Amino acid sequence: MMMTNNWYGRFDSIQTCLALFCLVVASLPSCGVAWGELGHEIVANLAWHRLSLQTQHKIEALLNITNTTLIEQTGSPLAAVANWADHVRHFLPWSAELHYIDIRDNLIAGGCHFLPNPNNNMSSCDCDFQYDRDCPEDICVAGAILNYSTQLVNAQKQVFVRSPQRRLRFGNSGNSEKRETFKSIDGMQQSLKFLTHFIGDIHQPLHASRTTDKGGNDIDVQYHLLQKQHLIHVRHANRFTENPASLQRHHPHHHSWNLHSMWDTALIETTLERDYDNKRSNMEDALEALLQKHPEWVERYTSCGNYAALNNTCVIQWGQESWSYALEYAYTKNEPWKGTHTKPVEVSEGDVLDEDYYLTRIPVVNERLIAGGVRLAFTLENIFGQEDSSVDMQDFGGSVLSMWSKLLVGRRH
Ligand SMILES: *[C@@H]1O[C@H](CO)[C@@H](O)[C@H](O)[C@H]1NC(C)=O
Ligand SMILES: *[C@@H]1O[C@H](CO)[C@@H](O)[C@H](O)[C@H]1NC(C)=O
Ligand SMILES: *[C@@H]1O[C@H](CO)[C@@H](O)[C@H](O)[C@H]1NC(C)=O
Ligand SMILES: *[C@@H]1O[C@H](CO)[C@@H](O)[C@H](O)[C@H]1NC(C)=O
Ligand SMILES: *[C@@H]1O[C@H](CO)[C@@H](O)[C@H](O)[C@H]1NC(C)=O
Repeated sequence: MMMTNNWYGRFDSIQTCLALFCLVVASLPSCGVAWGELGHEIVANLAWHRLSLQTQHKIEALLNITNTTLIEQTGSPLAAVANWADHVRHFLPWSAELHYIDIRDNLIAGGCHFLPNPNNNMSSCDCDFQYDRDCPEDICVAGAILNYSTQLVNAQKQVFVRSPQRRLRFGNSGNSEKRETFKSIDGMQQSLKFLTHFIGDIHQPLHASRTTDKGGNDIDVQYHLLQKQHLIHVRHANRFTENPASLQRHHPHHHSWNLHSMWDTALIETTLERDYDNKRSNMEDALEALLQKHPEWVERYTSCGNYAALNNTCVIQWGQESWSYALEYAYTKNEPWKGTHTKPVEVSEGDVLDEDYYLTRIPVVNERLIAGGVRLAFTLENIFGQEDSSVDMQDFGGSVLSMWSKLLVGRRH
């Protein structure tokens, strides 16, 4: 594969290496807040703008959000619910473990580390994300994605019908059917909110990460930039009230970051302030423009095929992918991939992460957000875009291929 000088050009070769050498993949931290609110909103908005109108309408109808201020503020109905799963994790404690994958590195002699040439040590494959070991009883973000996408597929056939005018409505003919339908709608809303959030989470590298340091939550770091930032939690302060502990932890002093929260929040907030005038929509536009320049990325992110979110093989790949990014870019503080003789140095407690770390990692953050957006769009289009009636199939071009081309064409304005 061709090597190019720009950062993105390197993904091909990096990913090929990962595949060839069976690098580790894996899971997530035990107590982090997920991608910060911004990350989830960005993933949801990137996805939203790639959906067919029909799918957008279905999702709008299903979510039935009447607060238009909320939609304006977050950017789309999907973004308006993208952080719901974090807000309920205290009320639904069973859901807390669904936000990440813990790679059981504690069970592996020597632990799991980034190896520029894992060929030298085949034992590193023990470090791969192993579903049976790292997602027992489907309890991890990969299992949750399988769970909620399956529930949505099964429920949506019963819930959505077409009126004679071919306008979307919910099926509610008889009374008992009505009750059932509303029960399904409730379940579907919840499944959709979880799925939207979890597809975001599985793309945050440190949400597929080591058990031993709780996905970087146990590694306190300092964040020193050349150019002072006013990290902007205040902007969202009112929306953090449900989790004052996290507000306190992250705000207002930079030195209270840990490696996990750096990736959830600090890196994104820094780029937002530096490059996008603190406007989330500017950042989304830039990411969309980047994706337009790289149509091959859409193919890459959707290469596992249709219904990837329902397919173990694919969801394991998504987790493995994040895990290898975690080892290579999050846990590692230098840039060993730049030269075969540079040994990787891991971030450790108390380390200062500086301008270099920020500058070299932000392309990874951007790529992960884009990957999450594309896969969320593809997943939702798979689930909601396929119509049972042949008329609707025609609307859609009648084939998966046409859905693909819609995704490839990208953002509609
Ligand atoms: C949508 O929400 C409104 C206001 O909360 C409610 O009155 C209405 O019944 C809901 N519609 C559906 C289809 O659930
Ligand atoms: C609508 O959403 C906005 C923004 O989150 C919030 O401030 C407001 O209280 C909400 N309004 C209602 C009626 O819930
Ligand atoms: C391979 O990795 C294991 C675990 O990290 C380590 O104990 C062992 O010494 C390594 N072997 C070689 C040849 O590097
Ligand atoms: C699957 O979804 C159900 C309903 O929300 C939930 O009770 C269960 O814990 C979920 N399991 C996984 C692995 O996500
Ligand atoms: C799941 O994905 C793999 C890899 O793309 C594919 O070979 C397999 O056929 C898929 N399984 C199903 C049931 O679609």
